[in-house]
Amino acid sequence: MPTLEPPHGGTLVNLVVPHKERDLLAEFASGLKSKELDEREFWDLGLLATGAYSPLRGFVTERDYNSILAGNRLDSGLIWTLPITLSATETEANRLSGEEEIALTYGDAGAIAIMRIEDVYKVDPVAECEAVFKSADPAHPGAKVVLEAGEYRIGGELQVLDEPAAPFPGFPYTPTETRAEFERRNWSTIVAFQTRNPVHRAHEYLCKCALELVDGLMLHPLVGATKEDDIPADVRMRCYEVLFEKYFPQDRAIIACLPAPMRYAGPKEAIHHALIRRNYGATHFIVGRDHAGVGDYYGTYEAQLFFDNFDPAELGITPLMFEHAFFCRACNQMGSDKTCPHGPDERVHLSGTKVREMLGEGESPPGEFSRPEVAEVLVEAYARR
Ligand code: ADX
Repeated sequence: MPTLEPPHGGTLVNLVVPHKERDLLAEFASGLKSKELDEREFWDLGLLATGAYSPLRGFVTERDYNSILAGNRLDSGLIWTLPITLSATETEANRLSGEEEIALTYGDAGAIAIMRIEDVYKVDPVAECEAVFKSADPAHPGAKVVLEAGEYRIGGELQVLDEPAAPFPGFPYTPTETRAEFERRNWSTIVAFQTRNPVHRAHEYLCKCALELVDGLMLHPLVGATKEDDIPADVRMRCYEVLFEKYFPQDRAIIACLPAPMRYAGPKEAIHHALIRRNYGATHFIVGRDHAGVGDYYGTYEAQLFFDNFDPAELGITPLMFEHAFFCRACNQMGSDKTCPHGPDERVHLSGTKVREMLGEGESPPGEFSRPEVAEVLVEAYARR
């Protein structure tokens, strides 16, 4: 049986409390002061719980926060590019400082975790945005979340009361599950594909090119919070299923979910995405054009170039870089500048806005852009809105 590479930091973190202690801890949590999570923090907590964010064991402390922002590393020296924070307003910070432990809540569910407070610290949200997103523009969807959160952060380890629920039953969503699945399938090299979109022809091309080189593909769509005009995860999951049914070899590819929020942090999120996929057991990671980008905040290949700052052996996962891919009518196949000699007139280019417009009018994007089965799911979903 092949041995999978170890997670980032060496061991897979598991913050979910043992079953037999769960009720006692829940009762203890009900007596603690509590703090409500926002949506992004809720998804982050789930990823911390299952070890998707290994080696993190909680929301980051001031030392880690400063170290990440200044040098893309945790205080321990391990690579980490995005601060996974718990935000608080000044009033909340005053109310909770001095507490040893607090309960974390989300919605009506009551306490979902206990946090041992290590520090409560004040930050400059604008500086955080500049460091993470290269912009503090409130029109940037990731910066907006940071700017609207409080100016304080609370750091400390977590005990999570229950394993996070499956976002889409039947699809693996924790590193433990995907690692077990890879072992069961006897795969030793696995390429992961991050996406927050339906899989169109360009995405499929990248996945299949990569699959020529390794044992298996993990299509790993991000299904946590995304910006409003992104296509909802339930619609996308149907797209992935119809695509897989007809166009992917079932014995060489799986669909798993990444229950993570999207930050749209471009280059820094590309490294973050790669490290998370290492934790899920992948050995290779696809990085295409404008990975995790939004608008014009990042250059087309900026995320790829950012990988030059890190030793692949230290990252523990090999990035597979792809140029902008398109369907060329003259070649009658997918390609990129690297493989297609034809000019722009032969190449099928559709912007996201154009595709949304077409779908809004009940029109399918052309087969060169999207498989008809995927287009059908999207047209139907738009009609129901
Ligand atoms: S992302 O925010 O998750 O990066 P998207 O779902 O569009 O957005 O992209 C998923 C992956 O495919 C990313 O690595 C991205 O760089 C890559 N990608 C998307 N479209 C293309 C394309 N036409 N050519 C090359 N790479 C692409």
